[in-house]
Amino acid sequence: MRFYEPAESQPCYYCKKFKENEESDYPLRDAVFTYEKFVYRCSWHSQFACSKCGKTSHFSWFYWCPEKKELICGDCSKPRLHPVKFWDRTYAYEFFCESCNKIHYDILYTEFCGEHPWQLGVYDLKTALGDPDPWEPMWSPEKKRSGEPLSLEESLKLENRVFELRRDLNVFEPIGSIVSQSELKPSKTQDAWEEFSAHWLTIADSDSEDEGDPNRRFVIDPTLMKLLGPVDGLKILDAGCGNGYLSRKLASLGAIVTGVDFTEPFIEYCNMREVESPLGCTFIQASLDDLSFLNDGIFDLVVSNVVMADVVNYQQAFLEISRVLRNDGRFIWSNTHPVFGGARAFDIKLPRDSHRQEERYLKLIDRYFDSGGILINWDGHEVWQIDRTLEEYSKALKEAGLVISEIVEPRPTPEMIQENPRFLAFDADRWTHFIIFECLKRKSDSSR
Ligand SMILES: C[S@@+](CC[C@H](N)C(=O)[O-])C[C@H]1O[C@@H](n2cnc3c(N)ncnc32)[C@H](O)[C@@H]1O
Ligand SMILES: [Zn+2]
Ligand SMILES: [Zn+2]
Ligand SMILES: [Zn+2]
Repeated sequence: MRFYEPAESQPCYYCKKFKENEESDYPLRDAVFTYEKFVYRCSWHSQFACSKCGKTSHFSWFYWCPEKKELICGDCSKPRLHPVKFWDRTYAYEFFCESCNKIHYDILYTEFCGEHPWQLGVYDLKTALGDPDPWEPMWSPEKKRSGEPLSLEESLKLENRVFELRRDLNVFEPIGSIVSQSELKPSKTQDAWEEFSAHWLTIADSDSEDEGDPNRRFVIDPTLMKLLGPVDGLKILDAGCGNGYLSRKLASLGAIVTGVDFTEPFIEYCNMREVESPLGCTFIQASLDDLSFLNDGIFDLVVSNVVMADVVNYQQAFLEISRVLRNDGRFIWSNTHPVFGGARAFDIKLPRDSHRQEERYLKLIDRYFDSGGILINWDGHEVWQIDRTLEEYSKALKEAGLVISEIVEPRPTPEMIQENPRFLAFDADRWTHFIIFECLKRKSDSSR
């Protein structure tokens, strides 16, 4: 697979980057080296040889000791991270020099500062090219400088590349940046759902409203229904019921279902359907983090289908769900997969309009530990996607007295794929966008 065909002659990758960040006339030197046939570089930004071990390495892996006139690599002297904002970078490598007992920095940073050995007039460095004069043209900042100091935390912040790519390609385009768990506002996610609900109801309608969208029909539901088992006679809470398709499905199998959702138009729609063709369902508008209108221990089963990625106070919601469950009752919930689903993952697919899923090259995942919510543009509507790590969910469940008894990652059978190639072939059998947890309510001890 080839990502990129290099032009005959082109400027150096790093020169181009630095020029974008440099107000003065940074030179675009010709690229003469490549090590991976992907990135082409000039001699300033190619490789050097270490004065100590003789090995050649990437230029930014070296420091220059002006006293000893030695270029030492990071394998011979282990660097620390020095937080500093310069060009598009947020740190430099900081070396302690055994020869002169001083601190030196890598020559990427020292070039910015104006203290690169070539800028200091030292020309006899061993470069990959050797003679003659590989370092032309010369460039130096107007005066010596050192960039802006940063805290360690600031220096370790990195924009999620998946978000950048999504913005470039307008695919569920992230708006703004991640909002951390503690800063997320429940009222904002509720407003977004109120606004989105009409569109959601039409998507559901066009996808055959009582079977759910293709993800539900072909991927989640077969696995979810198997995990639920026989539901006849069970008292079930459908937590975050949406248009209520699952509530109706379970009720038609004999369950006594209560559906809760905080979006008013969904509850109105569910009630309208219940009046049209009664199945004995009760629908209540409420937020999952406050189910105080429901008594303790009244449900055999709580099901929640792709909802937690929308719930701000998920820890409180788990506590409430646990409270309304009877001892040994089950909590079965699906969610966008913490690794492969959600906003931090992205399928590279070229061309993007192809319906053949194998034209997805690969999945990109970035910044897994950056938990929180991000606004996404979904068909012109703003919706929140909240991504958390597996560890955060597992911890919150434990604190709510819910013990994970099984984790299922839905995977369709070859026969299912044959019947639904557009959605399943080389997609749902290649990675999973969803995860389903079965949890058991631990018998409450006196502490709960
Ligand atoms: C992706 S939809 C899934 C709906 C339904 N379970 C289904 O499978 O079609 C997420 C639902 O969660 C609801 N929701 C989000 N946060 C909620 C909260 N804090 N309390 C109650 N409902 C919430 C939304 O209104 C929306 O209906
Ligand atoms: Zn260069
Ligand atoms: Zn070395
Ligand atoms: Zn030194």
